[in-house]
Amino acid sequence: MMSIEFNKDKKIFHLKAKGLSYVIGVFQNGKLGNIYFGKRIKELNYDMEESLNLSAENIPLDVMKNEYPEYGTGDFRKPAYQVETENGTAISNLEYVSHKIYKGKPELKGLPAVYVEEDSEADTLEVVLEDPILKLKVSLLYTVFRDHNVITRSVRFINNGEQNIKLLKAMSMNIDFDNADYDMLQLSGAWCRERSVLKRSLVQGSQVVESSRGVSSHQQNPFIALMSKNCDEENGEVYGFSFVYSGNFLAEVEVDQHFKARVSIGINPFTFSWLLEKNESLTLPEVVIVYSEKGLGDMSRTYHRLYRKRLCRGVYRDKERPVLVNNWEATYFDFTEEKIKNIAQEAGKLGLELFVLDDGWFKKRNADNSSLGDWIEDKRKLPSGLNSLAKSINKMGVYFGLWVEPEMISEDSDLYRQHPDYCMHVPNRKRSAGRYERNQLVLDLSREDVCVHVFRMISKVLKSAPIAYVKWDMNRSITELGSEKLPIERQREVAHRYVLGLYRVMYELTKEFPDVLFESCSSGGARFDPGMLFYMPQTWTSDCTDAIERLKIQYGTSIVYPAITMGAHVSACPNHQVGRIEDLMTRGNAAMSGNFGYELDLTKLTEEEKKEVKNQVDKYKNIRNLIQFGDFYRILSPFDKPEASWIFVNEDKTEAIFFYFNVLLKPNIVERRVRFKGLNENLSYRIKELNAVFSGEELMYRGIIIPKFKKDFESLMYRLKAEKN
Ligand code: DGJ
Repeated sequence: MMSIEFNKDKKIFHLKAKGLSYVIGVFQNGKLGNIYFGKRIKELNYDMEESLNLSAENIPLDVMKNEYPEYGTGDFRKPAYQVETENGTAISNLEYVSHKIYKGKPELKGLPAVYVEEDSEADTLEVVLEDPILKLKVSLLYTVFRDHNVITRSVRFINNGEQNIKLLKAMSMNIDFDNADYDMLQLSGAWCRERSVLKRSLVQGSQVVESSRGVSSHQQNPFIALMSKNCDEENGEVYGFSFVYSGNFLAEVEVDQHFKARVSIGINPFTFSWLLEKNESLTLPEVVIVYSEKGLGDMSRTYHRLYRKRLCRGVYRDKERPVLVNNWEATYFDFTEEKIKNIAQEAGKLGLELFVLDDGWFKKRNADNSSLGDWIEDKRKLPSGLNSLAKSINKMGVYFGLWVEPEMISEDSDLYRQHPDYCMHVPNRKRSAGRYERNQLVLDLSREDVCVHVFRMISKVLKSAPIAYVKWDMNRSITELGSEKLPIERQREVAHRYVLGLYRVMYELTKEFPDVLFESCSSGGARFDPGMLFYMPQTWTSDCTDAIERLKIQYGTSIVYPAITMGAHVSACPNHQVGRIEDLMTRGNAAMSGNFGYELDLTKLTEEEKKEVKNQVDKYKNIRNLIQFGDFYRILSPFDKPEASWIFVNEDKTEAIFFYFNVLLKPNIVERRVRFKGLNENLSYRIKELNAVFSGEELMYRGIIIPKFKKDFESLMYRLKAEKN
């Protein structure tokens, strides 16, 4: 059965997912307007619908709920797009022309997007609008998923006219809501403090989150949600908007004079324009829209399921991820072959599965000021070479992984000496490469030849040794946006062309090396976005490895992204970023709540610590299927109080892993009960650590007493298994 109904008489499209309805129609003025978006309604009565029944002249554009509004004909709110025509004006007017409905979901060529494996999983509606004078065609794409409360949207511009048209703004989506009685949720932060959960009440005017750094950024994630005023983890309505893009973006909610909210999300127009010559087209990145009437937790689980199974790709999509050790915080740039082998040897003994050699292995890279672009091993540090090192680590029963930063070039590099033009730059201007830019420049991936060069360099490295894993880093924002190869009128295309170039390189490399596990990273979490996850199924969550800081970072990240995508490592104490000292158990519990690994010198651990690490690794291997593929329920937010709690539950609710973290001890606490979530009320569960059985009902409604801790930063993990009746 089609989940898109078309009412021919009224020209209305009703997109129905399991629990949501999205209804749009062609109004008398020829415009495509929004009629309803929210909880699924079987049938709507359109007789009272003003915009449908008024005559064309009487539909005021400034209040109409327009699906893709423009500037210049009467709507004074923010437009979804803007053109510059050859006569220098910026006026356009889109009207409905045609539509088609079909099974499945089209690929967005050159762009990451969620996908279907079978056409029966989704239905797609394409509505074609046109400006009759410019002959500018705009196709709005909507896909509705059968098994998820998800709608995806994208847009394709085609210039069918005779004149050149410059797009000054082109958002991927616009939705006008009936009111603005919502809170807006955003994930904001900084380096080492990524994705804090912030909530604000909508007020008249614009509320914006954006990036103009060339990456989706530490500061703002390409995601916002509108939440009804009563919305919490379990209750209330929530609309999530997740942008599948890794570059400059803008997410905006404008509340107009009549207190109606207009939501849009797309490429940031601040650093963008795009020239469409005759017959040229441009497809915009996708937005994944989730609706839930069951609170934020349900919205997150919808994203998690979809992103796990229909955004991530490749052999690792469905595979348990290896427990790794990374040498960055163990050695930084200062290591020898022997040191590396010793850490890997220890990793093997403790049951770890993968050793990752981080920055510093190539050319003469002893600090962050040289050699990016020269991807040849430094024989002074690694005299036997990469191949032999990787093979000897494999002999220890451990896979070998490698760090690279392919998008970058150091001024002090052979590559720069040969091709000083390869980097992003503007003629006659200084190329910013100071301390804040980590002493490096960005390769101009808007250029085809540079992309080919990057592909060749990295494939050569990957072919040179048995490399099972790649950490793909990107350590600065982009400045001096400009490309030697583009004409003047296309210079403002560079930021988007860079992202397209990056996507092409990642696509080709992941296709060429399908068995390699890729993890993306950008000074920690500056590019934790769905665009990257399409190519690389896990991301280094943050450069802050402190377990207590990580509670917030991972909690915030979980609003959209599943645990399997979040690289989470146990690091040394005192912690290198905040100097905090926490016991190994808490560090382990925080990291085990994600995609688990270590980031310390295993050879420096005491025998007792080694025993504990071995224990943690064994434990994680037993529970990782549930952590990586199960459902995630947030119980207590570290943003509310100095504590945190969450639970992972498997699909049939017969197994669960519960975590509780006590950040700061409180004096004079009599009894602390915490209520579980996500269990089956009718099952009884044995908690292994307590050797006791409780009904699901009791665990969820009465809760369980948390034992008294003796100091700050303590935590616990409980493994639950349903008892056989
Ligand atoms: C930034 C990353 O986030 C770190 O984990 C590490 O790989 C360094 N770069 C290396 O330069």
